Amino acid sequence: MKAIIYRDHGGPDVLQFVERDRPTPEPGEVRVRVAVSGVNPTDWQARTGVAHRKLFPEITPHLDGAGVVDAVGEGVDPGRVGQRVWLFMAAAGRPTGTAAEFTVVPADQAVPLPDEAGFDVGASLGVPALTAHRALTVAEDGPRRLRPGALDGRVVLAAGGAGAVGHAVIQLARWAGATVIATVSGPEKAALATAAGAHHTVNYREGDQAAAAIRAIAPDGVDVVAEVALGANLALDLAVLRTRGTIATYANEGGHPVELNVGQHMVLNTRLQFLVLYTAGPQARATAVEDVTAAIRDGALPVGEAHGLPLLRFPLRRTADAHRAVEAGAIGKVLVDVMP
Ligand SMILES: NC(=O)c1ccc[n+]([C@@H]2O[C@H](COP(=O)([O-])OP(=O)(O)OC[C@H]3O[C@@H](n4cnc5c(N)ncnc54)[C@H](OP(=O)(O)O)[C@@H]3O)[C@@H](O)[C@H]2O)c1
Repeated sequence: MKAIIYRDHGGPDVLQFVERDRPTPEPGEVRVRVAVSGVNPTDWQARTGVAHRKLFPEITPHLDGAGVVDAVGEGVDPGRVGQRVWLFMAAAGRPTGTAAEFTVVPADQAVPLPDEAGFDVGASLGVPALTAHRALTVAEDGPRRLRPGALDGRVVLAAGGAGAVGHAVIQLARWAGATVIATVSGPEKAALATAAGAHHTVNYREGDQAAAAIRAIAPDGVDVVAEVALGANLALDLAVLRTRGTIATYANEGGHPVELNVGQHMVLNTRLQFLVLYTAGPQARATAVEDVTAAIRDGALPVGEAHGLPLLRFPLRRTADAHRAVEAGAIGKVLVDVMP
């Protein structure tokens, strides 16, 4: 099979396009013929070694993807062969990511892909949708699960709503009934966040005006902020958060130091929740997978420019260019076409 591998940490040039034997599924695993592989910032961060050191001599990158189950290991229902699936965390603590014609994953990380969704949707879900789900389910007063109506009456602020995770936050929050406000850096991003389903967009670069604009939309304050740039935005979040509101942060884009106004956060009874998918735990991931699958069935998670997430495609042999695009902050979702 054709596969992308790297043996040493480094820039995109460490990625090699090679021929390898098909992997064999171990007990409890499935082998998937990959159609589309999804690229996330964590994939290039893993490749460089900034996120964590590699555990295997040779690694095929990428956590997310979509394809068709082609073989099963002992203990897995053979009826799954031929099933269309979406994959998450394929390369997490394993050497077999989705940037290859075949990958093997634990059976529960290959989730049946509803007929309503194509492989592009399937390959765009994993990291963004599961992270977004967690951000929307950690508030003190719940909900712990998402479904239509679960966020009725709540106001969600998707910081950086035109990013891949921000896009999933908007879509899931909207599906669950929230009023959704997205912050963006300008008109192009505002158009994308609106196409994704945001009711309102606010330019976060407009300082005090941004807080005033959000307060005008939500006079009682925001219930949940899904935050991509904690250091840069904490003052804004504090200015718009309601009492006992939640700031769920999954990144610190820009790397600004985080300065906590302890007194004001105490007065607000703020919940500040940090998130990372790898350590969210099996229970949180399993419920996220179920809810995300229900959202797919409802047609709530479309991708593509018309839905606020332009797709940038690369063939498997050009995976290094796909990494360069993500690293350079490409607008939209970067996909690698594995199956011709
Ligand atoms: N903790 C986790 O489990 C987890 C999971 C997924 C992703 N992440 C991390 O989250 C980050 C985003 O991932 P992604 O895939 O969504 O990337 P992406 O598609 O490149 O989106 C990043 C977004 O951040 C926005 N942004 C940057 N600075 C901002 C600021 N000061 N205020 C508001 N928005 C700002 C950008 O919008 P503008 O261009 O308009 O500024 C852009 O839309 C990455 O660092 C990634 O590693 C963490």
